[in-house]
Amino acid sequence: MSRITCPVLSTMTSTAAAAAELIRPGDNVGFSGFTGAGYPKALPAALADRIRAAHDAGEDFRIGLWTGASTAPDADGALAEVDGISTRLPYSSDPTLRSLINSGEVDYIDEHLSHSAQHMWFGFYGPLDVAVVEVTAILPNGVLVPSTSVGNNKTWLDQADRVILEVNHWQPRELEGFHDVYYGTALPPHRRPILLTSPMERIGEPYLRVDPDKVVAVIETDRPDRNSPFSPPDATSAAIAHHVLDFLRHEVRVGRMPSTLLPIQSGVGNVANAVLADLDGSEFTGLTAFTEVIQDGMLDLLDSGTLVSASATSFGLSDLGAARFMANIDAYKGRIILRSEEISNHPELVRRLGVIAMNGMIEADIYGNVNSTHIMGSAIMNGIGGSGDFARNAFLNFFLSPSTAKDGAISAIVPMVSHVDHTEHDVHVVVTEHGLADLRGLSPRARARRVIAQCADPRFRDALLDYAERAWAAHPTARHTPHLLGEALSWHQRYLDTGAM
Ligand code: COA
Repeated sequence: MSRITCPVLSTMTSTAAAAAELIRPGDNVGFSGFTGAGYPKALPAALADRIRAAHDAGEDFRIGLWTGASTAPDADGALAEVDGISTRLPYSSDPTLRSLINSGEVDYIDEHLSHSAQHMWFGFYGPLDVAVVEVTAILPNGVLVPSTSVGNNKTWLDQADRVILEVNHWQPRELEGFHDVYYGTALPPHRRPILLTSPMERIGEPYLRVDPDKVVAVIETDRPDRNSPFSPPDATSAAIAHHVLDFLRHEVRVGRMPSTLLPIQSGVGNVANAVLADLDGSEFTGLTAFTEVIQDGMLDLLDSGTLVSASATSFGLSDLGAARFMANIDAYKGRIILRSEEISNHPELVRRLGVIAMNGMIEADIYGNVNSTHIMGSAIMNGIGGSGDFARNAFLNFFLSPSTAKDGAISAIVPMVSHVDHTEHDVHVVVTEHGLADLRGLSPRARARRVIAQCADPRFRDALLDYAERAWAAHPTARHTPHLLGEALSWHQRYLDTGAM
């Protein structure tokens, strides 16, 4: 059965190669996609071919690429391989693109995900020339059934001069009804409260709108989403997860949260998945999620009934997870809602709902500042993503990491983070496999003692404590957050000097 039942838009069908001809050198292009879900799958390869041919002919052809978050090797990766990207925002995790960003060939604007749509509306990014958006179907009245992510699609469709749609037959037609797209946002000074008071409340509509006059091509494809498999939790991530769960039990016991907890947000990756796995085997039930991505661990929780429902902006399933979701899709309807990322990550909503935020980090310092984005202070890893949206506004936030990196050669607990994403004023709880440091209500020096004692690898504890004590002794009139600046910064340099990076 046709997925394009709009009489006007059904006349716009095109090959990917012909649609790629409609993108010009220097265009800013907004792709759908969030993790490996819902990104365009046919157009990027065709555009990469076109760019390669232009480069072979000696022409300059690069685009500004804007998305919801990361995409996949056949989108970000394909365009990076042909040196087709000049600027990129708001988040990427593609290894080829990462190298180009770190070698200075691509300008990367690493933004809080909740900011990306509104910065577009505010005019901070300049004009968007083309939106390329994957959808599940186009209905007779021209509205679009979104696919497995919503991300920034609403904004790109609204703001772009030209629109290319990819109708993906691989996406289950039953996705209709999973989405809630909010069209009520206004610009300051006309903003009104967003009236969402529980994670599963519907405040929008199940469809994306598009002005048919802007649609220049409709491509049909049947290629799958691409998501990486999760490894089963190893001993380190399992230990981190146990600390988090014990702490949540403690918070319930002392009456700071209900036994059904508060809505959980879980970052992506294996450590976050280990926390979800631990929750699944625990006594907790009746939980809700207000998060960014629904990964395999969340499906497990929904299947077992531990989680009642989940609101997010995207799926981030492994191939096995996607197959499982599709096989039982009707059972998930009404229990999963996908929203635009300006809503899934909205500070107003995260704070109102009292979200429990759990995100990975690269390193934390003894005072509780957290680096989520940079290796050794200079090289970007991925980006801040939604971690800041959730952490700063959460009821309670956790930052999780193994205590060491690079086979134990470098401590993830350091005197001073080499780059700051989450300041000491935002960070509540730091967790490694060795333990958990609850930093709420502590002065900087009390935080330092706790982080070193609870979280640092025993091999680095003495050196960190020695540093903290000498910093305290060295500054009789500046003891609030004492540092030995030269030494703090040389902590990372020592590792770099080993030639390991
Ligand atoms: N010093 C040096 N290198 C470090 C390091 C440290 N303290 N900590 C990690 N690394 C390196 C690892 O060795 C690894 O390098 P490799 O790719 O060469 O093997 C790399 O950084 C990634 O580390 P890993 O432990 O595999 O990370 P992860 O998959 O658990 O992800 C983050 C951790 C911080 C990169 C990830 O959580 C992230 O991107 N966070 C920011 C965005 C975010 O929080 N999103 C969720 C919001 S909803």
